[in-house]
Amino acid sequence: MDRYLVFGHPVRHSKSPFIHTLFARQTQQELEYGLAEPAVDEFAQALRTFFDQGGKGCNVTVPFKEQAFTLVDRLSPRAKRAGAVNTIKLTDDGVLLGDNTDGAGLVADLKSHGVMLADSRILLLGAGGAARGALAPLLAEPPSELVIANRTHAKAQQLAAEFCDLGHVTAQTYEQLAGSFDLVINSTSASLQGELPPLAPALIHTDIAIYDMMYGASDTAFIRWAKQHGARQTMDGLGMLVEQAAEAFTVWRGIRPGTKQVLRELKRNLGVI
Ligand code: ATR
Repeated sequence: MDRYLVFGHPVRHSKSPFIHTLFARQTQQELEYGLAEPAVDEFAQALRTFFDQGGKGCNVTVPFKEQAFTLVDRLSPRAKRAGAVNTIKLTDDGVLLGDNTDGAGLVADLKSHGVMLADSRILLLGAGGAARGALAPLLAEPPSELVIANRTHAKAQQLAAEFCDLGHVTAQTYEQLAGSFDLVINSTSASLQGELPPLAPALIHTDIAIYDMMYGASDTAFIRWAKQHGARQTMDGLGMLVEQAAEAFTVWRGIRPGTKQVLRELKRNLGVI
């Protein structure tokens, strides 16, 4: 049977096996999908061993995405832009192809929630790997303006400069942010420490859409905060997780699974509904 897995550390709580097993059942593809948690300095060897032993493809998650970028034979244009690889496919001619489906997953999830991206004014919080992966797919829509704000302003400036050939993208400090945004995307890891990005409450209004790439069984700290200040449309990163997986599955199997039912089952599994 064709073998796939996700590499990460830690990875025990990954929902990817659950999601891909449902995709395989739905599309009647015969495959198995597992987990691998190599020591941080043993990822390269573990990856090589997996493909030497007949593996067909894998997902890569924290902290290996940047390393995977350097280990594959060929990169898709979107992986090159993202500077990170979350999906690897062994092609029929034996080439390890590195791809990145995270940004496409984000955009697909935003659209499935009815969020209009074309001509919108978007605020992206954070300038780490998650922000980098989202930029090209977001700018392709294209928004009228995309502003990046980051605690370390120089990193936001660098990202804006790197992507300015793809659209109207600027960097501002949290203090500089002004005017009305249609969509705020939180790509920071602040929630992991139970913290909030230092965003002025005045930027939140009833018609704004709020997206947090993090997710949990209950609202993230950022979503709770946004609701308190009047945001009516809030979304967490669970849908992005399922959509990036669907995109990876399509890369591997050439068949696109439906995501709605799988997302519902995942929510049930997590105790969200
Ligand atoms: P990832 O790959 O998930 O993006 P990362 O590269 O470590 O992870 O980036 C984390 C992002 O969250 C960074 O933009 C970080 O800001 P700094 O560049 O200033 O470190 C941001 N971040 C983390 N904790 C934060 C907090 N408490 N408030 C605001 N931003 C925070």
